[in-house]
Amino acid sequence: MRVVSGIQTTGNLHLGNYLGAIRQWVAMQEQGECLFFLADLHALTGNVSPQELANSTIEMAATLMAAGIDDRAILFNQSRVPAHAELCWILQGTARMGWLNRMTQWKDKAGKNREGASVGLFTYPVLQAADVLVYKATHVPVGEDQKQHLELARDIAAKFNTDFEVDLFPLPEPLISKAAPRIMSLRDGSAKMSKSDPSDMSRINLIDDDDTIAAKIKKSKSDADLLPDSVDGLAERPEAKNLVTIYAALAEREPQSVVEEYAGKGFGAFKPALADLAVSVLAPVRDRLTQLLDDRAAVGAQLAKGAERAAALAAPTLKAAQQAVGL
Ligand code: ADP
Ligand code: NA
Repeated sequence: MRVVSGIQTTGNLHLGNYLGAIRQWVAMQEQGECLFFLADLHALTGNVSPQELANSTIEMAATLMAAGIDDRAILFNQSRVPAHAELCWILQGTARMGWLNRMTQWKDKAGKNREGASVGLFTYPVLQAADVLVYKATHVPVGEDQKQHLELARDIAAKFNTDFEVDLFPLPEPLISKAAPRIMSLRDGSAKMSKSDPSDMSRINLIDDDDTIAAKIKKSKSDADLLPDSVDGLAERPEAKNLVTIYAALAEREPQSVVEEYAGKGFGAFKPALADLAVSVLAPVRDRLTQLLDDRAAVGAQLAKGAERAAALAAPTLKAAQQAVGL
């Protein structure tokens, strides 16, 4: 099994990113050979400033390393393995306008302003196809919103194999992992925890110190009721449910087992336990992250090593694709 996954670069990572995404990638290293790339070329299709792109790429890489992505996986910048872009160009000869026109993300993101959208926004699903096909990926982790793009990658692979009478690209399968928890704001149980929330008290940043983590949990919105003995009792209590969800995710337990342990207790008792748990899980990640952010050259060196390993895997596939089309 070879898993290839692109990671959107973003700074200011928070507990929602950690429990909802990063920890899933760390666990995936156990399942097969993993290539994780920071999707810096994809970022160019949006409106990102050069400084923001450079910083978010290194911060994302440092966070992934701090969270446990290690040499079992290959972590690198997409832009540093030119085979992605080279294969993308070849596959643009295979992909059809009609296929890309049907992509719902293109329609959503371009909106009514299609004439003003970047060409990259239109063609980036072809780059996504190249990202995985260049490694002959067998599996690609996909959320709901990316299923259509994986289908497209399979269509491109199949048409290429047929058009050029080769058996070059395996059709990558979706990798459905255990549903990731959705973490809500600490101030409003109906809003997602997000870096774009103006209130810093709404989220736990991965860079927060122990006292800040504890203070944010202490001040988080909850209610005056006691914890029920079944998760069903949390259905109409979004803030209470969120704190239980966070506890369960941090402890890697089921929410039901958490409410059973705290049934009949109030948040005055639950919050300090949650704060201790959060600090015990997040402090080691934060300490490694702080070290890495103080030594960005070391992060860059790790990424350069990753790019070298990835390039070696990509080279034979690119060469075969070039030969197939007569280059
Ligand atoms: P933000 O909402 O802070 O801008 P992003 O959109 O950059 O976060 O998300 C990066 C990754 O983290 C995505 O895989 C997304 O699904 C996951 N993620 C973001 N926020 C949460 C959350 N509150 N709960 C669970 N997963 C989340
Ligand atoms: Na977002």
